Amino acid sequence: EQNEKDSLYIVLNYANEYFKKQLLETDEGKSIGLSYFKERGYDAPIIEKFQLGYSQSAWDSLLQDATKNAYNEDLLEKAGLIVRKEGDKKYDRFRGRVIFPIHNVTGKVVAFGARTLKKDDKPKYLNSPESDVYHKSKILYGLYQAKGAIRQQDNCYLVEGYTDVISLHQSDIENVVSSSGTSLTDEQIKLISRFSQNITVLFDGDAAGMKASLRGIDMILEAGMNVRVVVFPEGEDPDSYSKKLGTSEFKAFLKEHTTDFISFKTSLYAEESARDPLKKAESIKEIVSSIGKIPDGIKRAVYLKESSKLLDIDESVLVAELNKILIKDR
Ligand code: UTP
Ligand code: MN
Ligand code: MN
Ligand code: MN
Ligand code: MN
Repeated sequence: EQNEKDSLYIVLNYANEYFKKQLLETDEGKSIGLSYFKERGYDAPIIEKFQLGYSQSAWDSLLQDATKNAYNEDLLEKAGLIVRKEGDKKYDRFRGRVIFPIHNVTGKVVAFGARTLKKDDKPKYLNSPESDVYHKSKILYGLYQAKGAIRQQDNCYLVEGYTDVISLHQSDIENVVSSSGTSLTDEQIKLISRFSQNITVLFDGDAAGMKASLRGIDMILEAGMNVRVVVFPEGEDPDSYSKKLGTSEFKAFLKEHTTDFISFKTSLYAEESARDPLKKAESIKEIVSSIGKIPDGIKRAVYLKESSKLLDIDESVLVAELNKILIKDR
């Protein structure tokens, strides 16, 4: 088992070096991949830091090179680097895409995310399948590059995508990780909590994504961590917005717009219920349910008081509702 994992790490590391070389040293890589990264504002140091790469558009460029280097096809397939079809047809999984290697917390490459360069090509990002060394639910993109800064700043920014992580680094913000477009898992929360008890979620500026993520955040509260949020303007994500504002204005924006999660959620629901009184009961239940996830009784009390003001409802009503929840969960 350990031997098999070691073989996977070795072949993934080989592939990572191969993709880097394609980006920096081949005509196709330079004219297509490198110019794409340049267009996105990524300079040489950031490309090096995140070990960005490029996969040739040919069907089997990696397969041929790997075979020359004596890697066997079973291993390449297990690592998700090649795909085998019936009739023993085989080809590279990643072709004509820019490559974002995904590292585990100790810095070993465990998977790749590969972005298309064509406008309406699907999927936009093609990712490695799960393997013995890659369990999506247990990996956070960027954690390896961020862990020191997370500990030092005692805060972890959580963003949606690969490019959000990289652009924040370019804006001099290094305490940032991405759940890579999926909702956060308990294992990922535990990973972060090794370095800090504070998470600041940066929402893409689209309402749909935000309501969906609100639920995931309750899990962070349940873990006893402190959660803050920043909402971006409609149509912006941390990548696009940091580029629009530039480093110092972007940092100021973050500072100014960071809100405590419970207060943020309460205000959001309070606004809705103000327009529709029938919604108020629902809102109260929703807010109290989030507060009920917080393990610390003193924190709960503080939030109850604050929320009663924001919702304009007597605190005793919230206390009664919370007690109902706490008894039910016991
Ligand atoms: P987004 O669609 O927000 O992409 O998906 P993005 O990160 O802003 O990328 P750019 O700026 O268009 O290049 C957020 C994250 O969801 C995952 C990726 O991790 C992506 O960074 N995702 C998205 C996929 O895995 N596959 C997809 O097809 C799309
Ligand atoms: Mn698994
Ligand atoms: Mn999005
Ligand atoms: Mn995005
Ligand atoms: Mn983006």
